[in-house]
Amino acid sequence: MNKVLVAYASRTGKTEKMAEYIAEGVRFFGNEAVLKKISDVKSEKDLEGYDGYVFGCPTYHRDMTAGMKTFLFQAEKVNLLGKMGGAFGSYTHSGESAQMVFDTMEFVFKMDMVDLGALNLKEAVVETDEGMRAGQDYGKAVGGKFRN
Ligand SMILES: Cc1cc2nc3c(=O)[nH]c(=O)nc-3n(C[C@H](O)[C@H](O)[C@H](O)COP(=O)(O)O)c2cc1C
Repeated sequence: MNKVLVAYASRTGKTEKMAEYIAEGVRFFGNEAVLKKISDVKSEKDLEGYDGYVFGCPTYHRDMTAGMKTFLFQAEKVNLLGKMGGAFGSYTHSGESAQMVFDTMEFVFKMDMVDLGALNLKEAVVETDEGMRAGQDYGKAVGGKFRN
């Protein structure tokens, strides 16, 4: 069984909901998923010991949140090289964050990123059946990657 950390920022709960669906999908193939708000990640130690990492951030002002930027600098100090990764986020109109987080994980941390790319969902979709399925399928793709 592999252990995946799903760590997210969320101001109004949409990205948090996505995190919950993704965690359900990760667990589908018998993997363990741990959900954490990035504000609960206090030190590098809290990021160690996982086989995979999925990070989520909504878009505010066409950017990641300040908290997510600080979190990614924290994550830089942990060796994530070659670890399985994915990224997601909720948005209304431009939605830059999920891809920004994904790119940092791929190009800076050099992680083994999920083929689907970033999961970017419009907030109106998040809490529909479509949103639930998209989140769960993303989590399944992450969990399924361990079987390759
Ligand atoms: C002040 C403010 C600025 C925002 N800026 C953007 C933006 O630049 N691009 C975008 O796609 N959505 C933007 N949004 C919408 C949020 O990304 C959207 O509400 C998202 O679902 C919030 O996710 P959360 O509930 O996880 O915090 C903004 C929302 C607020 C309140």
